[in-house]
Amino acid sequence: MERYRSRRVFLSMASVAGAAGVRAAAATLGDPPAVLGGKPIRKKPFSSWPLVRKNDERAWMDVLRSLQWNRRRGGAVKNFEEIWARRLGARHCLATSGGTTALWTALNALDIGPKDEVLVPPYTFIATVNVVLLQHALPVFVDTDRETFQIDATKIDERITPRTRCILPVHLGGASAEMDMILTLAKKHGLSVVEDACQSHLAEWRKQPVSTLGDAGCFSFQASKNLNCGEGGALITNNDELLAKAERFHSNGGSVGKSSTPLPHNTNGCNLRMTEFQGALLSSQFDRLEDQASARENNAGYLTSMFDEIEGIEPARMYKGCTRNAYHLYMFRYDSRAFADLPREGFIEALRAEGVHCSAGYSPLNKDKFLDYTLRSRAFRAIYSDREINDWHERNHTPENDRLCEEAVWFTQSMLLGSRGDMEQIAEAVRKIQRFGAEIRKAAAS
Ligand SMILES: Cc1ncc(COP(=O)(O)O)c(C=O)c1O
Repeated sequence: MERYRSRRVFLSMASVAGAAGVRAAAATLGDPPAVLGGKPIRKKPFSSWPLVRKNDERAWMDVLRSLQWNRRRGGAVKNFEEIWARRLGARHCLATSGGTTALWTALNALDIGPKDEVLVPPYTFIATVNVVLLQHALPVFVDTDRETFQIDATKIDERITPRTRCILPVHLGGASAEMDMILTLAKKHGLSVVEDACQSHLAEWRKQPVSTLGDAGCFSFQASKNLNCGEGGALITNNDELLAKAERFHSNGGSVGKSSTPLPHNTNGCNLRMTEFQGALLSSQFDRLEDQASARENNAGYLTSMFDEIEGIEPARMYKGCTRNAYHLYMFRYDSRAFADLPREGFIEALRAEGVHCSAGYSPLNKDKFLDYTLRSRAFRAIYSDREINDWHERNHTPENDRLCEEAVWFTQSMLLGSRGDMEQIAEAVRKIQRFGAEIRKAAAS
């Protein structure tokens, strides 16, 4: 609806103020962009998501008919945990109700709590930070490396204090954070590492699947994710004791028969278990993950090779150690100077009008009101003094991230599941908008 309205506004502006100019430009620049009344490059939608095949229906119906819908010993959840752990080469996988709850479980199992500081990137989904706050610890933001969109590992050291307990890097968009530096710093300062791999199924750092490099790694299987069951998550670890604590926490302090490590005490917890439906769907969807991951990689590589020839479009760079990108998102920076100063919002609107869906991505999370609200809450006030909260505010500056949030443009993973022709159309749509940048800007300004 929003898109339709904006496009209509654009069209009427173009017709009133600039129709003659657009026609004149079209004579030399070729077909005008759809946002100025031309034909859209794409009429067909990109691949829908999720994809459902016969094996998904069978898996779902088997659980339905079994009448055992909650997690049971030897059931579908256990089966998926084994499949996923094997594929990652990890010792343990604990399925959870979501990626957020997997991260929360990991921080709880590591005993992160009040007065602790956890280092997080500001360029991420809100859940990465919410889980730190749920433990009544302080999220301390490390600036972003604008070229890669990942946490800037060279800026972690300066954020470490005697209260720092954990680094929580996010493998954003499907690529890997700079894990060599992160693991070295963690070792030097005695910190734990929880990898937020919620967007990076099958991504690798130096050929090793992400989620297996730190103390724990967490995945999301929420609807948009490359491996999806609507809502779901998993905690990966090679540490027996961490698994035992996580298992108890995610099941109200009880055991679901995963861990054989006895704990010296009883624990409290929550109900964060996965259902058998989710487990069954994940195993059937898993059968296609590898092929889909290869298709995304090939198409993303091809798109990047075309974007590299377009001034003002800078695809997110990968670190050398990132040997596989899962491409949950295809992200790039847009430089309006190469598009006759057409603002990013105008570029996005014009690209959408061409049938190429895209978005502006995250806004600065570290400046979001929810943080202020939480830090002023009764619980946080009981733990932290005014001086501690003021200190936190003074350290909370991430200028590179602020800039990135004004430049970024995203495509979603399912757009990469189609043909090379799809990629050519995306690149052609961008080139067309570039040719007509001045006309689109003038139409919007008139
Ligand atoms: C980076 C990141 N972390 C955590 C999450 C939370 O996962 P879930 O939505 O499954 O709780 C997401 C989900 O979008 C995410 O993208």
